[in-house]
Amino acid sequence: MKVWALVLVAAFVIIGISAVDKNKFKTCSQSGFCKRLRPFKPEKSQYSLNLDSILVHGNVLSAEVVTIDAADEKRTVLWKYAFKLSALADGTFRVELDEADPLYPRYRTQLALDGEPKADGLKLISKDDGKVILVNTQGHKVIITSEPLKLEFLDLNGEVAVVLNENSQLLVEPLRARREKVEDEDGDGANQLDDEEGTWSETFQSHHDSKPRGNEAVSLDVVFPDADHVYGIPEHTDGLALKTTTSGDPYRLYNLDVFEYILDSRMAIYGSVPVMYAHGPKRTVGVFWHNSAETWIDVVNYGEGNVVSSLVNLVTGGQKKRVDARFLSESGIVDMFVLMGSTPGDAFRQYTALTGTTPLPPKFSLGYHQCRWNYMDEADVRSVDENFDVHDIPMDSIWLDIEYTNKKMYFTWDVVKFPRPAEMVANLTAKGRKMVVIVDPHIKREPGYFLHEDATELGYYVKDRDGKDYEGWCWPGSSSYPDFFNPVVSRYYSDRYRFENFPGTSKDVHLWNDMNEPSVFNGPEVTMPKDCRHYKPPQDGLEGLAAYWEHRHVHNEYGLWNLRATNTGLLDRADGVYRPFLLTRAVFAGTQRYSAVWTGDNTAEWSFLAASVPMCLSLAIAGNSFCGSDVGGFFKYPEAELMTRWYQAAAFQPFFRAHSHIETKRREPWLYPAATTALIRDANRKRYALLDFWYTLFYEHTVDGLPVMRPLFQHYPDEPATYPIDDQYLLGDALLVKPVTTAGASSVEVYLPGDGPWYDVDTYVPHKGPRITQPVTISKIPVYQRGGTIVPRRERVRRSSALMADDPFTLVVALDANNSARGSLYIDDGETYEYKNNKYIYAKIEFGPDEMTYTLASEGAQYPTGAWLERVVVAGIRAAPRSARLQQDGRQTALQMTLHKGNDVLVLRKPAASMARPWTITFAY
Ligand code: NOJ
Repeated sequence: MKVWALVLVAAFVIIGISAVDKNKFKTCSQSGFCKRLRPFKPEKSQYSLNLDSILVHGNVLSAEVVTIDAADEKRTVLWKYAFKLSALADGTFRVELDEADPLYPRYRTQLALDGEPKADGLKLISKDDGKVILVNTQGHKVIITSEPLKLEFLDLNGEVAVVLNENSQLLVEPLRARREKVEDEDGDGANQLDDEEGTWSETFQSHHDSKPRGNEAVSLDVVFPDADHVYGIPEHTDGLALKTTTSGDPYRLYNLDVFEYILDSRMAIYGSVPVMYAHGPKRTVGVFWHNSAETWIDVVNYGEGNVVSSLVNLVTGGQKKRVDARFLSESGIVDMFVLMGSTPGDAFRQYTALTGTTPLPPKFSLGYHQCRWNYMDEADVRSVDENFDVHDIPMDSIWLDIEYTNKKMYFTWDVVKFPRPAEMVANLTAKGRKMVVIVDPHIKREPGYFLHEDATELGYYVKDRDGKDYEGWCWPGSSSYPDFFNPVVSRYYSDRYRFENFPGTSKDVHLWNDMNEPSVFNGPEVTMPKDCRHYKPPQDGLEGLAAYWEHRHVHNEYGLWNLRATNTGLLDRADGVYRPFLLTRAVFAGTQRYSAVWTGDNTAEWSFLAASVPMCLSLAIAGNSFCGSDVGGFFKYPEAELMTRWYQAAAFQPFFRAHSHIETKRREPWLYPAATTALIRDANRKRYALLDFWYTLFYEHTVDGLPVMRPLFQHYPDEPATYPIDDQYLLGDALLVKPVTTAGASSVEVYLPGDGPWYDVDTYVPHKGPRITQPVTISKIPVYQRGGTIVPRRERVRRSSALMADDPFTLVVALDANNSARGSLYIDDGETYEYKNNKYIYAKIEFGPDEMTYTLASEGAQYPTGAWLERVVVAGIRAAPRSARLQQDGRQTALQMTLHKGNDVLVLRKPAASMARPWTITFAY
């Protein structure tokens, strides 16, 4: 071996460079349908719509679509399809194309939608010249060209915003029966099976996929005129704005357990949310590809420098900006929702209107979570818990990873290490803390294990291609997997979470469903074989292939069914009184209705810290606002500076949890030098000071469906400089966060959008954008409050969020150019559903030069909070008032005021108003 090679190998060993084993995962050319269909781009689409068949009924246009071979002068119909265009509420359309008379039903994704989408009105305007023109209630027009079939969706200015099948890539491969070929083609005396190019089977490495139904792929292209960028389709590691895929593979969506996943990659990882947004100065629109099978997505951004300009002109007819995308799935039907925007917020809301929002989380879950694989026994848990108090670091929950169980048999405890779980939990809850335990979906095939015995006896497992219980390999060794698609199995599984069935748990023990892609160590691509069988409700006359679904149809939604069953169990165990917290690794459209998500097994490297922002941002715009990354990195060990910066960054991300691999060095905050522990304490305290701000944002998300963590372009859609930014973000519309994600930083460049000013939250110094250089010491977290907003804080930090319930508030008012600002505050009991019975406060807070008001915005809602107003800080004051008076409950009090920092920060001391009732502060000059 050459010397340089030796040096390289030595370096790999010493610094432990490791990365994903790419060979385990398919490239497009190893995935049969991707290889077969990626090059498919006929000059003219074979699909045409039969104008005579059109029927408009209510909000739906239905029609027959047929394929005809372009070269066939007789125009023989090759295949018939059922086409539907529906107008849905809030500027959304749905396009469905299925075989008119399939051999057996094709799979329709079941759980992604949050119920039946609401209908809008649809009116047929005209039907001539081979075109049909329709309009919804809002005024969005749809032009359907019949031959070849093309759909154009027009914005409210009458401009084309989305086009389907412009690139002729619409395709629904008809199902067909497998024939025995009677003729002996190769002369070996045996008849051969009909098996053209992997139609009826495929092999990847040692894994054979029997493909009993043959090819059944679907595909559709989308053109977004005028778009600068497209975003979405998480989960990937290559940034928020998606890139052109002409060189290399398309983006892949296939939930996979990818060991040591790499950055800047379009490879599939744990989650798949097939929603894409296109944005430019003219508008934002989106498409949601409602399909749970393996999916590949190509993107061509003609505005990107690397796409040859002559090609741009050729394709776009001189149009400067345009992004093309193409969705290709292994099975299912064509089912595409078109979200007409027109702002980013509109498009994000239209998506959550379809797939649901994250319900209000229990408040503790917005605090800090301490996890590790593993806290080894009860003494370990106790000592970690106590050390948080010794070091005065707020913390809300301790987590137990798989080692707490008896030999990885979920719903059991290792009774040697955890003999008294209820006592252990009580010890935490005495300080207002909680426990979170892991329950993975794989079931150990262990004789005597009740879950395995029940599942075997009752037939609750997913079946293999031959109809026997499927056996794979996971943490417990030989394992099988519940078939949650069967409602009886889901019900049985939900009931395992009942307190009496899971001893040691209580309402204060919350859940973590991991490995639910599902992960199968010895399966193809570390997951379940595609020809495994899932439950399908029995239907008269349907048998054989028609009587079950294959794993290939449902793969990306398996985890969602797992989460739904868990969520039901957690609600039922407490009779629907308490809000559960649940964390998942696998993600699909709709996951947000049941669970928070995290970005899986990251690495203790600066680049992974940086990647946590775009990864969570793209999950957030795809409905999953409650997102975080393992603080410190799961693999390897973060040195003090990286650990500090990670805490500082994650304290401003929605889900805030430290976690680490079992083989790494312990890294609880006090195991670092005292200065680092102090910095971590400071970061956690900053989180707790803003917990009510977070809680209010999550409440507002339940109402408006908007992300909590937002890309800058959401609020500054007319500022092109914001479009590619994914290393800073907004929380609501008030705070802008720019985490420090490089070693040894002494400054960071920050883009401050809009008119500002943006006030540094540590100093109240106002900054004007668009660009500033922010000096940073190791203690600095660059966060800015927008002028015009009011942010609630609590400055007395305690051991856990529950202990802060009645603590007083500070309201930070950041003034805009008109000396005014507004904000909101949500308060309730933090853990029950009583808010649904009007037991909450949602207050609007407004500041004008003459008065500041706190009004209860939801009629009839009340909550008897003991919290009160301790301080008002007004930043950016130009003319200081002479006096201020508080009025509440008919009483008036004169307030003390002081001016600070160059006389532009006014502090009102101890107004002492109750936050349970409205109040007003009036100013005199
Ligand atoms: C994989 C998860 O990603 C990781 O967070 C966890 O610690 C291990 N499984 C063990 O349960």
